[in-house]
Order: sequence, then structure tokens, then C-alpha cells
Amino acid sequence: MQKIRIHNKEFIPYLSQSEIELAIKRLAEKLNADYEGKMPLFIPILNGAFMFAAELFKHINIPCEICFIKLASYAGTASSDNINVAIGLDKNLKDRHLIVLEDILDTGKTLSAFLPDLEKQQPASLKIVALLHKPEATIHEIKLDYNCFKIPNRFVIGFGLDYNGQGRNIPAIYQLKED
Ligand code: IMP
Ligand code: MG
Repeated sequence: MQKIRIHNKEFIPYLSQSEIELAIKRLAEKLNADYEGKMPLFIPILNGAFMFAAELFKHINIPCEICFIKLASYAGTASSDNINVAIGLDKNLKDRHLIVLEDILDTGKTLSAFLPDLEKQQPASLKIVALLHKPEATIHEIKLDYNCFKIPNRFVIGFGLDYNGQGRNIPAIYQLKED
């Protein structure tokens, strides 16, 4: 694998496509076992989780549903805090087994703002799945229930993740090259 350039930055190979796909297949096997008979509702968060969700879904073989959502952030009126509103969540979540899919858990800000909204709707259960996790970057404590890779606190792209809008299409994960 070659290093790649996006905008003004260079990235080096970090996780290969086959490594990623194998880890996702293993994760699917766990979910198939844990959610048998529960008709889980998968909730991938766009844009980043689209490729992870597609790869995972190929290997989910139990009855289930999926609903992609996008978190739109609006500036709060009274404070500088942003409010995240889920767009596209058109299902009744009460008594459902929810599985939120994220590309990466970084600071935890996104999920810590959004998960209370899901909890309010009284699901039967709520679990968090992230393809990647940067433990050193976490500020907001989020209980990660399933994770494929723990990675160091360096910027990565590919497999759905972008740098300024580009790189999502790359089928492997690349890490920002050190100067
Ligand atoms: P958090 O709210 O800080 O946990 O970050 C969540 C979002 O930030 C992820 O869903 C990604 O879209 C983005 N993000 C965090 N780290 C990276 C990275 O290394 N590369 C690309 N996107 C990232
Ligand atoms: Mg994202």
C-alpha cells in the first residue's frame, strides 16, 4: 500500500481492508448471537458509519431492521453548546433493542449529546458499537459495548472517515503521517 495525499496532508497505511473486514465479520457473529430473537434496530450515524454499516450488515443473519440517521448540529440559543438533532429517525423506539453504529468514538461529544434523546424514548436496550476507538481522546465517558479496533490518538481516514470531506471512499484505513 502506498501513502496517499488529501488536500495538504499525507497519510500512511494503518489497517488493511482484509484486517478491517475480518474484524467486522467477527463483530457480526457476536451480534448475531447476542440479538437472536430480539429484532434489533441498527442506527448507523451518517456520514461516517455508512461503509462500516454496509460491511457489518452483509454478515448479520438474524431478523433485524436498520435506520440511518444524520445528526444536524444547531447552535444553542442561550449557550455556546451545540444541539444535535437526529434527522431520519422515523421509527417508534419504545421497547426496541437499539444498536447505534459509529465510525469512531473520539472525544465522545457527539454520542453524549445524542444518546439521552434515544433513552428518553424508552427502548428495551441501547448498545453502542464503534469500528474505531481512540481511548486517549475520550472526554465524555461513553460506555462502548462493542468495538473492533482501539487506536492511538492520531487522525485517520478511509472506510467512511474523511479529512475535510475527502477520503471516505478509500477501502482501508490510513493514519496521518508524522512530520
Ligand atoms: P466525537 O464526538 O469527538 O467522539 O467524534 C465523533 C466524530 O468525529 C466521528 O463520528 C467522526 O466523524 C469524527 N472523527 C473523530 N476522529 C476522527 C478521525 O481521526 N478521522 C476522521 N473523523 C474523525
Ligand atoms: Mg461521524
